[in-house]
Amino acid sequence: MKRRLLVMVCFVVHFILLCETNVSNSYALLYDGGLKVTASYTLYNTGSILSCAAICYGKPGCWLFTWDAVSKECQLLDFLNAVVITESAPSTLRTYYANSVRGKKIVRTPSQSSWTGNNNTCANMGGRLFLPEDNTYCYILNHIVGVNHVHIGLWRYPSDVTVWYNMDGQTTFPSLNWGSGQPNNCLGSQYYGSCHNGKAGDVPPNSITYGICDI
Ligand SMILES: *[C@@H]1O[C@H](CO)[C@@H](O)[C@H](O)[C@H]1NC(C)=O
Ligand SMILES: *[C@@H]1O[C@H](CO)[C@@H](O)[C@H](O)[C@H]1NC(C)=O
Repeated sequence: MKRRLLVMVCFVVHFILLCETNVSNSYALLYDGGLKVTASYTLYNTGSILSCAAICYGKPGCWLFTWDAVSKECQLLDFLNAVVITESAPSTLRTYYANSVRGKKIVRTPSQSSWTGNNNTCANMGGRLFLPEDNTYCYILNHIVGVNHVHIGLWRYPSDVTVWYNMDGQTTFPSLNWGSGQPNNCLGSQYYGSCHNGKAGDVPPNSITYGICDI
């Protein structure tokens, strides 16, 4: 299957955003030198930041990459399996993360609310709660939002503790590993899903935090 990929520079100021048509991801600046996410990366000699982004797009788990403006090194994230920590990096090393996935912009709700409140907020913004495709993206979301717990597009009916749905009402979707001992239906009312320190967790109706929408 041939995927068409068009990447273009949308606007270039201090903040650089790469964007494209709705068939791929776009990337936003996370660190403008000095810091990088501690992780395993694969080095590519791509010659340009645009081809670095394009190769990241085609690589499963690559939700983040670094580009060194001087050495022209492109480092693609392999995966994350722990809460994000950072380390020092050259001042010329920039880190970008996917802030748009398969054509949908990934945004935080403006304020903290219950899962259903966030579900409504996302709908009012023209989208819905986002379900990350893997734990690596969950770790990145927790890091970017800056809280260890964010509501995502995962829910179940109160009457059935075993079947979980995405926002399309499907029970089969890219799997996100649950945290240890999760879902645990603590106190018998955990109907909603969250990214909790990078892993899926079930939360009750009175859990208050940010929601992640795709719009
Ligand atoms: C891109 O967006 C257009 C308009 O919203 C839609 O008709 C089309 O199906 C989308 N393409 C893909 C590959 O999602
Ligand atoms: C989420 O919000 C939509 C739109 O308001 C609503 O139709 C849907 O039932 C809600 N989903 C859940 C699981 O509450």
